[in-house]
Amino acid sequence: MTVSTDIQALLAQRYGHTASFTPPSWNSTLDLMVSHRSVRQWLPRDLDDATLRTVLAAAQSAPTSSNKQIVSVLAVRDTAAKQRLAAVGRQMSQHIIDAPVTLVWLIDFSLARFLAAEEETDTAAGSTPPPAEAVHGVTGRPATDLGALNYMDEPMMAAADIGIASQNAALAAASLGLGTVFLGSLRNDIDEVRDALGIPD
Ligand SMILES: Cc1cc2nc3c(=O)[nH]c(=O)nc-3n(C[C@H](O)[C@H](O)[C@H](O)COP(=O)(O)O)c2cc1C
Repeated sequence: MTVSTDIQALLAQRYGHTASFTPPSWNSTLDLMVSHRSVRQWLPRDLDDATLRTVLAAAQSAPTSSNKQIVSVLAVRDTAAKQRLAAVGRQMSQHIIDAPVTLVWLIDFSLARFLAAEEETDTAAGSTPPPAEAVHGVTGRPATDLGALNYMDEPMMAAADIGIASQNAALAAASLGLGTVFLGSLRNDIDEVRDALGIPD
């Protein structure tokens, strides 16, 4: 990873004028962040699985709201699937087809539901679940009650978690010399995205 020697030039490029401060120290992380650009054209190179997993390890190391870990990510390499995703995004997503990998970030409550179901199974088998207060911090609510998922706060927190995790991935990719661009355009037709990728409810 390179570290710019002319930091003021880098900052001036960012702000369009000379920066009014001098960073007391500088490193390759700051270099990557300040020189960020979205990339929409790719060299004709593949991306190997180990590199992809490395990028995702960085994403999965991001903080998550209440440690709920309600983010899943799908790595899409299949050309036919990428064509369907590009069609969803229309002109804002043509770069999907040429990209070796498109990552689709999902709000995913299935882990929470799975753990709750396990808890139910344990209870049915005779073991005693921890008191609801210890699990949820509130009384009068059984540990398996996932009513909280019905509140707007949950998907909002999940969306924040996705932003943080995906930016970790983007930064990790950049540190490995890989360009990225975010794709809000996939929200044009969520049902079609779900169908193209076989995502369950
Ligand atoms: C949440 C989000 C969604 C975005 N959606 C798209 C998109 O659908 N297509 C696209 O080409 N760029 C998309 N972008 C990239 C922005 O257009 C880009 O970050 C912005 O123009 C600033 O350019 P820069 O990233 O090169 O600094 C998205 C960026 C973010 C953060």
